Amino acid sequence: MKNILVTGGTGYIGSHTVVELINAGYNPIIVDNLSNSKIQVLDRIKTITGVDVKFYKLDCTKYDEFEEVFKNEKIDAVIHFAGLKAVGESCQKPLLYYENNVGSAIVLLNLMKKYDVKNVIFSSSATVYGEPKSVPFYEYFEVNHATNPYGETKIMIERIMQDFTKVNKGFKAILLRYFNPIGAHKSGLIGEEPVGIPNNLMPYITQVAIGKLEYLRVFGNDYDTVDGTGVRDYIHVVDLALGHVASLAKFSNDFSWIAYNLGTGKGTSVLELVNAFEKANNIKIPYKIVERRPGDIAISYANADKAKKDLGWSTKYNIIDCCKDSWNFQNKNPDGIK
Ligand code: NAD
Ligand code: WQD
Repeated sequence: MKNILVTGGTGYIGSHTVVELINAGYNPIIVDNLSNSKIQVLDRIKTITGVDVKFYKLDCTKYDEFEEVFKNEKIDAVIHFAGLKAVGESCQKPLLYYENNVGSAIVLLNLMKKYDVKNVIFSSSATVYGEPKSVPFYEYFEVNHATNPYGETKIMIERIMQDFTKVNKGFKAILLRYFNPIGAHKSGLIGEEPVGIPNNLMPYITQVAIGKLEYLRVFGNDYDTVDGTGVRDYIHVVDLALGHVASLAKFSNDFSWIAYNLGTGKGTSVLELVNAFEKANNIKIPYKIVERRPGDIAISYANADKAKKDLGWSTKYNIIDCCKDSWNFQNKNPDGIK
């Protein structure tokens, strides 16, 4: 196993995974339509790794364009990151999300079948668990309802991959359910670049820290949690990237599909994250408590034992590392990657 096709490879998690694939001796090939990332990411990856990664600018929903890659390259496995991920936007534009996310997965599987590429890792999400009755979340929990169309696309793609691999002998899918990725590569050269005002907590905090936003709005302090604010399992993006590298070895086993939680197994509240950021970077983050955000759940964190046992993977970075690295990226790129 050597050549890894990485769809969405110039995006936040994809770019970090490409770096770790190179570090581990793989040969990644990137496909991205640059709808939510920049071409300059390729230069940054080269600065970090010394490698000029092969890149195809194309839309994975377009069968003919995407087929060129399968014709030109010998591919051993695919890591499928390409997708739209804004929860709020998915409620406003559900068809766009179903078309782009579900559509690209179906095109990908058809091409994998035609060109006999048997191994795929899919970027799923803790959102597939909806609102379970207890924490931590285990892989065996029911996956039935998400709270928004974005989450529904993840559930649908998981099902499609399961149905496909069950009847196509030798094809294997690893469904990685990410918890909340934050942080950035130590170099500060790649990281998360939200368009417009961030929806997610960490990029909002870093934009308050750099003075682009005045204060953080904390969405509710009356949840049944340690301090009343929402609790999440924040995972360093480099740990997450390494989870993909560890998963590739699993393809030597016999299975059709398997799901793993990628999280730290620890919950952190909004105010705990704010405090950690302040301590790590010596910067004050002003905040105001406001109404709960519709659709939010109180607590989400992983049981990550299955990934540890099966893949020999667990997280190395703590919440302070995450806060330092998120700030380092924001600070070094105040106006984004150029
Ligand atoms: P991202 O937006 O930074 O990266 C996704 C990349 O896919 C972008 O570079 C975008 O240009 C590309 N893309 C989108 N649609 C495409 C298409 N049709 N054809 C080709 N390229 C396309 O997002 P990310 O945070 O790196 O997330 C990567 C994957 O992980 C996504 O599938 C996302 O849903 C999933 N995920 C993300 C999180 C998170 O919090 N960031 C959590 C769970 C799961
Ligand atoms: C974290 C906590 C908020 C912003 C989302 C998607 C999920 C996944 C990751 C892809 C919550 C609170 C947030 C702010 C706040 N993406 N918060 N003020 O909602 O856990 O997950 O991103 O799969 O599908 O739903 O992450 O970072 O938005 O919120 O108080 O300005 O921070 O209420 O408790 P979330 P988040």
